[in-house]
Amino acid sequence: MITVENLHKHFGGFHAVDGASLTIEKGSITGLIGPNGAGKTTLFNVVAGVLQPTSGRVTMEGEDITGLPPHELFHKGLLRTFQIAHEFASMSCRENLMMVPPGQAGESLWDTWFGRKRIAEEERALRAKADEVLEFLTIEHLADHKAGQVSGGQKKLLELGRTMMVDARIVFLDEVGAGVNRTLLNTIGDAIIRLNKERGYTFVVIEHDMDFIERLCDPVICMAEGKVLAEGSLGEIKANEHVIEAYLGTGLKNKDKVEA
Ligand SMILES: Nc1ncnc2c1ncn2[C@@H]1O[C@H](COP(=O)(O)OP(=O)(O)O)[C@@H](O)[C@H]1O
Ligand SMILES: [Mg+2]
Repeated sequence: MITVENLHKHFGGFHAVDGASLTIEKGSITGLIGPNGAGKTTLFNVVAGVLQPTSGRVTMEGEDITGLPPHELFHKGLLRTFQIAHEFASMSCRENLMMVPPGQAGESLWDTWFGRKRIAEEERALRAKADEVLEFLTIEHLADHKAGQVSGGQKKLLELGRTMMVDARIVFLDEVGAGVNRTLLNTIGDAIIRLNKERGYTFVVIEHDMDFIERLCDPVICMAEGKVLAEGSLGEIKANEHVIEAYLGTGLKNKDKVEA
């Protein structure tokens, strides 16, 4: 579904992504792991149009999408989740979801004057959809809670929920488990698996929690120093000597992570 060919992203003289090539299969939940500083987030940001690559090529279903801005990728169904911006923290969880679909009727002045009925209908449909998403994520009880006041894990679910308000096809999740308790992490994992199986979403998941990766991801791609080191099942990755070396090279703390 996605190919990344010989991608480079340099910050000054520093090569954060240094000739990475990989393929994301349609319908997969692909894991992206690697020591801190490996270039995982930078690669995500280039693929999702947040950063321009220094060189290299990204395609989606054969079409060159290199350097396209996020809103164009959004229309193709390629989404990267973002933290709920602080200016939306005082809005309810439901309202945060209702904000997502672009081009709502309520946005144009013409509609404000002449299309009140249509706006009301669209808003009802949007509200119903938001409630359906909250229910899917098992957080319907938070519909009227302020987004800024729910727990870290619940915020992550809400971020995932935002991808469900549009016709997402491939979703990039960066450290969805960071600071999230085990129960909510399982709920997030369940939601990802269901979105994959029931709605055909393809996922690319960066995560340090190896239990989470093991439960969800096949294949797993390991990056280090801006390059792709290995790809395979998590078992194969863990046994790969280049991978072991890369984790060892960054010290015991990270070695523990790959073995966790
Ligand atoms: N905007 C930036 N300017 C300069 N260096 C950056 C920038 N973004 C990331 N880096 C550097 O690029 C390297 C890779 O970072 P990152 O992609 O965040 O790695 P990972 O997500 O694998 O931990 C790191 O050494 C980081 O400090
Ligand atoms: Mg990162």
